[in-house]
Amino acid sequence: MLLDLDDPSLVADPYPVFAARRAEQPIAWDDGLGMWLAFGHAEANAVLRHRGLGRIWVDRLPLAGFESFNLIHRNALLEMEPPEHPRLRRLIAAAFARGHVERLRPWVEDLAARLVADLLEQAADGSAVDLVPTYADELPVAVIAELLGVPQADRPQLRPWSNSIVKMYEYDRPAGVESAAETAAADFVAYLRELAAQRRTAPGEDLISHLVSVRDTDGDRLTEDELVTTCILLLNAGHEATVNVTGNGMLALLRHPGELARLRADPSLISTAVEELMRYDSPLQLFERTAVRDVEIGPVTVRAGQKVAALLGSANRDPAVFSDADRLVLNRTDNPHIAFGAGIHFCIGAPLARVELQASFAALLAATASIELASEPVRRPEFVLRGLAQLPVTLAPSE
Ligand code: HEM
Repeated sequence: MLLDLDDPSLVADPYPVFAARRAEQPIAWDDGLGMWLAFGHAEANAVLRHRGLGRIWVDRLPLAGFESFNLIHRNALLEMEPPEHPRLRRLIAAAFARGHVERLRPWVEDLAARLVADLLEQAADGSAVDLVPTYADELPVAVIAELLGVPQADRPQLRPWSNSIVKMYEYDRPAGVESAAETAAADFVAYLRELAAQRRTAPGEDLISHLVSVRDTDGDRLTEDELVTTCILLLNAGHEATVNVTGNGMLALLRHPGELARLRADPSLISTAVEELMRYDSPLQLFERTAVRDVEIGPVTVRAGQKVAALLGSANRDPAVFSDADRLVLNRTDNPHIAFGAGIHFCIGAPLARVELQASFAALLAATASIELASEPVRRPEFVLRGLAQLPVTLAPSE
C-alpha cells in the first residue's frame, strides 16, 4: 500500500510521504486503494487534462434509499463529461459572468472587517479564540449564501447540510455517514426547489435568479434538477475548500513568522501569498478519474476501466516544477500550482475564492498587531478535504 489514508500520521503531515513516493515513481499503482496514484506535477496535471480519463457516472450507492444524494451527484457539473459538461458549464458561467464576483468584492471586504472586529472583541481580555468556527467557517458560507441570495434566516442550515453531504467523498466512511448524507441531500433539495420557485415568480439580482433565467444562444436552459444541483454544488464546492485554505494558510503563516512579518510589512504581496498558501498546504488533496480507453500517463499505461487519482497536494510540492518546493515563499511568482484543478473541470469559482481569501487574510492582518498560536491546532481526520477543526490563537489589535 502506497498511502494509508486512515493513518493519522499521514493526515497530520502527508508531505514527507508524498516526497518519498514521488521520488520512487511519479505515478504508481496502489493495491490498497485499487487505483493509480499520480504524485508528480506533470502526471497529476495530465490526469486532470487527459480526455481519455473522465468522470464516469455511476450511482455511488444503491438507488433505493439514496435518491436525493444520487440526484445531486448525477446532475453535478463536476461529475459530467462532454457533451453534457460544456453545455452546463456554459450556462453556469453565463450566469456567473453577470458581475457577481465584482459585485461582491466590497461586500466581502466589509464582512471580513466586521468578523475581525468581533474576533478582537472576544479576544480583548487576552483569551484564546478558535479561528476556525469564528472566522474561517463564517466568511465563505456567508459569501456563497449572499451570492445565491439565500435569505438570512435560512443561512445557519447551510453548513450542516453541506458538511453531511461532502463526507460522502471521503474513503472508509464510518457507519451513519451515508444515511446522514441522504437526509441532508433530501432536505437541501426540497429547500432549493422552493427557493427557485420563489425566484421564478419574483426574480432578484442574485445568482439563483440568474440561473433560473439563463439561456444560451440556442435557447437552452437549466433543468430544475440541474439548477438545484448547481446551487448545492456551489454551496459545497464553494465553501469547504475556502474554509480550509483559511485554516491551513493561517497555520502555515503562524509556523513561518518571518513570512508572516513580510506580508504584514508589505500587504501588496497578498495575491501571490494566497496562491502560495494554496500550493503549500492544498485544501483538496485527491481527485479521481476513470480511463475510458487505455491511456499513457508518464511511464505507465492506465488500462480502460482503471481508476487514477491526481494528488494535488503532492503535485504542488514537486521539486521538478517548484524551486524550494517545501519552503513557504509568499512572493513566489512562478507558481503553476494545481490546487484549483486543471483542464475542463478547472474551478469555476476560482475568481471568487481569490477575492474571499485575499480579503480574509488582509483583514485579519490589518486589524491585528500580532496573532499567535494559543495551543496546538487540531486537524480534521479526513484526507481528501484537508483542513483544521480548531486553530486557537491569541490576538493583539493594531494601534
Ligand atoms: C480555495 C477554494 C477552492 C478550491 C481550492 C477549489 C478547487 C477546485 C478543484 C480542484 C476543482 C476541480 C475538481 C476536478 O477536477 O475534479 C474545482 C471545481 C469546481 N469548483 Fe472549486 N475550489 C474552490 C472554491 C470554489 C468556489 C468559491 C466555488 C463556487 C463559487 C467553486 C465551485 C466549483 C465548481 C462548480 C467546480 C466544478 C467545475 C467543473 O466541473 O467544470 N469552487 N474546484
